[in-house]
Amino acid sequence: MKFFLDTANLDEIEKAIEFGIIDGVTTNPSLVAKEDVSFHERLKEITKAVPGSVSAEVLALDTDGMVKEGMELAAIAPNITVKIPMTHDGMKAVNILSKENIKTNVTLIFNSNQALVAARAGATYVSPFIGRLDDIGHSGAEIIAEIADIYSIHNLDTQIIAASIRHPQHVTEAALNGAHIATLPYKVLVQLFKHPLTDWGIESFIRDWEARKNK
Ligand code: E4P
Repeated sequence: MKFFLDTANLDEIEKAIEFGIIDGVTTNPSLVAKEDVSFHERLKEITKAVPGSVSAEVLALDTDGMVKEGMELAAIAPNITVKIPMTHDGMKAVNILSKENIKTNVTLIFNSNQALVAARAGATYVSPFIGRLDDIGHSGAEIIAEIADIYSIHNLDTQIIAASIRHPQHVTEAALNGAHIATLPYKVLVQLFKHPLTDWGIESFIRDWEARKNK
């Protein structure tokens, strides 16, 4: 499973890239709004910083508007993926954009039928929001597993991006249940490295070594 970073914050992206494990970035209107910057300018900066897929979401809700915005976003850089919400109009837009060889990420996926429809419409990626499912007492992990099984049974090559990740356990669940990618907030990415026994182990090795040197 690959890692994307779920942010529009350049500092976070630059810091995360240094770990050498980030293959792409996802943004959404809420994340860009927090930055208080020009959307297109920020996308230019992110696409320069990250060679992999950078998802940028359309704001229009009708097919023509989504296609127009999608084309404009795709013109910013070759690594832009156009993020489209799972709606009737959205799937028409995915179909049109995919025929233009523009990559798409169908967002706000909450069940496996939505993921099947998106794949049939030509989506490059689907984003099931596992945290928001868990919030309402459903199992995000089960939805990931269902989508992975359906894609495998029917030879669909759409990639599953586990989204709305809230904590490291979500990352484990996404990996175990067949997500191709997990898109993580920076806070969760850095938590993946940590274990108290690792910190304790480092401290005790250093302490023992220092004690030996003083003999
Ligand atoms: C994914 O593409 C979305 O940007 C994101 O994961 C949504 O997460 P949230 O539920 O924490 O807002």
